[in-house]
Amino acid sequence: MSTDNIRAACVMGWPVAHSRSPLIHGYWLKRHGVKGDYRREAVTAGDFPAFLKSLGERGYVGGNITQPHKEMALKLTEPDERARAIGAANTIWIDNGKLRSTNTDVIGFLSSLDVGGPGWDKNLMDAVVLGAGGAARAVVYGLVERGAERVHVVNRTIARAEVFSERFGPRVHPVGWDAMPRLIKDAGLIVNTTSLGMTGNPELPIDLSGVRDDAVIGEIIYVPLKTKLLQAAEKRGLRHSDGLDMLLYQAVRGFELWFGVKPTVTPELRQIIVDELTKKK
Ligand code: ATR
Repeated sequence: MSTDNIRAACVMGWPVAHSRSPLIHGYWLKRHGVKGDYRREAVTAGDFPAFLKSLGERGYVGGNITQPHKEMALKLTEPDERARAIGAANTIWIDNGKLRSTNTDVIGFLSSLDVGGPGWDKNLMDAVVLGAGGAARAVVYGLVERGAERVHVVNRTIARAEVFSERFGPRVHPVGWDAMPRLIKDAGLIVNTTSLGMTGNPELPIDLSGVRDDAVIGEIIYVPLKTKLLQAAEKRGLRHSDGLDMLLYQAVRGFELWFGVKPTVTPELRQIIVDELTKKK
């Protein structure tokens, strides 16, 4: 296909076959009538710096960065405040010949809560974040940005949670897993960022029976779509957001940067990804 007249973006990773980004952006290109293309680019760690340098020559206006290149992308581009604070870039674009980057997981996470639990951030005193890995960084950054008074970061390895208070300031309180049952009772927001509850992993050991009726539950896992945590939230009648909404909303900013149109997350798009996720392999 000729790339002369169309704007193109890509997802760069190794491996990259699993990425759902081409489905999401492909849907928006069609729906919004944008003459463009979005492709997968399998790029090894060794090839990544040279690939990035030649991005424009390859016909790209930007793209998404997936593992294992998110930290390297930060070093090789001009990151915005979010990407720098999180320590990883997942979206890049060429701006006047310069490679710039951001991390859209923050917007993805915040938007998924805005949709699943509108008003969740109003007078939010205590938020509990389970996990202190890469995904938790975007979540904690977003919660501090939205003004949460206290963000309790619960992690099995307490040293990893302690790094969060150094990185994100005094609103962040690192704690061990044993503090979790007590902390969730008063929390206005509880978010799982661990890999517990993901298909093939052990379940998240949590009991929602004592939490506040107005608590909002956030989940970043989307395989399965409805984790045990979300099932428990539904059973308790608690408002919640899932990992698929976070995935879809994080993609909005990239599309807007590359193609100049702010795309819409529609039920139809959600269904396309659900079908893909539940497709028999
Ligand atoms: P990601 O970058 O996707 O967030 P990660 O950095 O591997 O992934 O983080 C996974 C999170 O799940 C971590 O908080 C991890 O806890 P540790 O820091 O103690 O490893 C948490 N996690 C994974 N398996 C766990 C388990 N069996 N029990 C408790 N926490 C677990």
